[in-house]
Amino acid sequence: MRYVAAIDQGTTSSRCILFDREGKIAGVAQREHDQIFPKPGWVEHDPETLWRNTEFVLGAVLDEAGITAADIAAVGVTNQRETTVVWERDTGRPVHNAIVWQDTRTDRLCTELAGTSGAARYAERTGLPLSTYFSGPKVRWILDTVPGARERAEAGELCFGTVDSWLLWKLTGRHITDVTNASRTLLMDLRALAWDERICAEIGVPIAILPEIRSSSEIYAEIGAGPLAGVPVAGILGDQQAAMFGQACLAPGEAKNTYGTGNFMLLNTGTTPVFSEHGLLTTVCYRLGEQPPVYALEGSIAVTGALVQWFRDNLGIISAAAEIEDLARTVDDNGGAYIVPAFSGLFAPRWRPDARGVIAGLTRFVTKAHLARAILESTAFQTREVMDAMRADAEARSLDLEATALKVDGGMVENDLLMQFQADILDLPVVRPQVNETTALGAAYAAGLAVGYWSGTDDIRANWTADKTWTPTMSAAERDSRLGDWNKAVERTYNWAD
Ligand SMILES: Nc1ncnc2c1ncn2[C@@H]1O[C@H](COP(=O)(O)OP(=O)(O)OP(=O)(O)O)[C@@H](O)[C@H]1O
Ligand SMILES: [Mg+2]
Repeated sequence: MRYVAAIDQGTTSSRCILFDREGKIAGVAQREHDQIFPKPGWVEHDPETLWRNTEFVLGAVLDEAGITAADIAAVGVTNQRETTVVWERDTGRPVHNAIVWQDTRTDRLCTELAGTSGAARYAERTGLPLSTYFSGPKVRWILDTVPGARERAEAGELCFGTVDSWLLWKLTGRHITDVTNASRTLLMDLRALAWDERICAEIGVPIAILPEIRSSSEIYAEIGAGPLAGVPVAGILGDQQAAMFGQACLAPGEAKNTYGTGNFMLLNTGTTPVFSEHGLLTTVCYRLGEQPPVYALEGSIAVTGALVQWFRDNLGIISAAAEIEDLARTVDDNGGAYIVPAFSGLFAPRWRPDARGVIAGLTRFVTKAHLARAILESTAFQTREVMDAMRADAEARSLDLEATALKVDGGMVENDLLMQFQADILDLPVVRPQVNETTALGAAYAAGLAVGYWSGTDDIRANWTADKTWTPTMSAAERDSRLGDWNKAVERTYNWAD
């Protein structure tokens, strides 16, 4: 067996990537899908398209590499998290489009559920604030909205799953999920790693529609049909947890930051869950086989790369994401403009569902090039806020946060200007690994470990190598002044949505 295959079903595209024993890429196939925006604040995907594209990239990557299923030791699945699919158990037909993690349609529902206890009502048991971000309220919305859905759910005729579950169902006919994805639903007890019946009842999600919760690395089932028929699926990890694995953040204190549609910084906290006092989430990082689970603190930022896409698609100022760097380089700074992309409210560390996006500091001087800079800078500023929260939590818990450099990955880290600005604003070196597809790599590792393709996590550490490091050069005075302006801009996003 020469390779392990990873399916990476993301927010914007589906990928299949082949990895060899050194963790090097041996083949890639990718296909984008449409983002469906039915109303302001609503974001959907067509689940059948997600599956069709996944099937397509599976076949395409084998063709590209000139290999067959016999060359693949195992398949790992990683996915956009929280995005919610409900389908018919009999026919496999979705009863509604997938409601994407960025979707804010459940905001009123979340406020109602919070009641007098506030957004932290379930935080102690789930590690999460009540937010539109998570799956539980999205399931409730579908069951409340689709005619007959609640009765059918209670009768066991419907299945709920995050995208991992949906793909596993299509690939193997099993209705399962892993601990990392389950930890993003607001329905799982973080310590017991089981559905919390009381919370499920209060949010209004019948137990009968929930998948079985399994570990992140074990043989679940063989693929039933298609180009990979007979190959075992042996790893499932939510995309950000997979990136932790791909970055070899396998010991307490190790952290990474992924720059994709949004940004997600995770800090490994070991086998006990640590609860944040600074706006971070507590989540399952991974569980290997029967070993104890490993937990993480997470700072989730909803909009980073998505703002670059907005600049491209909604404003039409650039025609490809990478062009933003050339445009931004035509000016020396942001010209006084700050963009705060609170498109889905603000996630970590502020958690402000009432916030909406602003461009602050506009004068006649500001050009599209300054805006391009402001867009890239907003990613760096938001990351700095999350990093400050991580540091504060780590300090309060005497966790030894590895503070020599920040490991980064994802589509945006190809942007040299952004990465230099990031190092400057963090006042910390930023380091990119040779294999930047850490999400897919992590899913491959989880699957490969379960079937013995890799012998243990030492192999993963040995495979990690640095590619490029950016070191800070900005003066403290300039950094402080910019952070001050950024803060003023963020405050102007508050109290917009009712
Ligand atoms: N050179 C670049 N400069 C700035 N942003 C970029 C650049 N290249 C890609 N991006 C942004 O990075 C994001 C894509 O990164 P990546 O493929 O890691 O995203 P992702 O979040 O994994 O996608 P998915 O959500 O599908 O998983 C897009 O939002 C895109 O706008
Ligand atoms: Mg991704």
